[in-house]
Amino acid sequence: MSAAKLKTKPSAERQDRSPVGIEVSSLSKGYDHQQVLFDINLAIKPGEIFTIMGPSGSGKSVLLRQIAGLESPDTGKVRINGLDPAEPATRDRFALALVFQAGALFNSLTVYDNLALYPMEHHICPKSEIRDRVMHALQILSIENTFNKLPAELSGGMKKRVAIARALVMEPQLILYDEPTSELDPVMSATIAEIIATLKEQFTVTSIVVSHDRDLALTVSDRVAILRQGRLLAVDTPAAIRSTSDPVIRDFLNPQIDLRNPRFKQLEASNE
Ligand SMILES: Nc1ncnc2c1ncn2[C@@H]1O[C@H](COP(=O)(O)OP(=O)(O)O)[C@@H](O)[C@H]1O
Ligand SMILES: [Mg+2]
Repeated sequence: MSAAKLKTKPSAERQDRSPVGIEVSSLSKGYDHQQVLFDINLAIKPGEIFTIMGPSGSGKSVLLRQIAGLESPDTGKVRINGLDPAEPATRDRFALALVFQAGALFNSLTVYDNLALYPMEHHICPKSEIRDRVMHALQILSIENTFNKLPAELSGGMKKRVAIARALVMEPQLILYDEPTSELDPVMSATIAEIIATLKEQFTVTSIVVSHDRDLALTVSDRVAILRQGRLLAVDTPAAIRSTSDPVIRDFLNPQIDLRNPRFKQLEASNE
């Protein structure tokens, strides 16, 4: 997946700066002989923090790529404010930013250059504005002192913050986060959850978060979707998800360790 695909026009040319709404209808997607997503239907409201949870391999990142327009579904469709995100012309109409799971920072570039590169190459704003935008994004995340550091000099949590700052430089109306807290300790994960919630308040951006971090999902989200083996099991508020009686969702959120009947000996679980 390449960030260069997420091409946008200068913000002044965009018509509307408000957060965007997303509709996913009857979406299916597969690769070669493997069907990954089955008949997904979702309506994500403007300004919402919407979290997609599910076990590894359930299709979360694939769904995010369809929403970002990096790939097109086999059947069904995605619409962002009524427009197809995979159409190049759509990209000129709103600003979308992706925060990749691994950060996707360039190791040989400083933090400043990592943030400035994309707006520079794609003329997101006048050159004179780039420095202000980059420093402002770093300030919002309280990491302005990292501007001349290389990614290798940063901790995992700092790298994630730099990756989020890079998204902010785009002044996005929609931010897609893929596993923003993976590989982070609980305190760092809580920091990222606070950042996601703060950005929603400050910028009224629509946020879609893919994560299997239960604390993140159930505290900062407005709604949560549970994906399992390519199918949506539930879409509801964190309170409703927490109190569900569905044994599969309960087991996913709160797995019990049972040494008399271990999961790795169960056929279905070992196939997931
Ligand atoms: N580009 C691809 N080509 C073939 N198979 C893929 C591709 N991307 C994902 N898959 C498969 O789709 C399934 C779901 O992957 P993914 O969405 O990455 O899971 P996760 O929920 O962990 O993000 C996996 O079985 C994966 O191997
Ligand atoms: Mg993934």
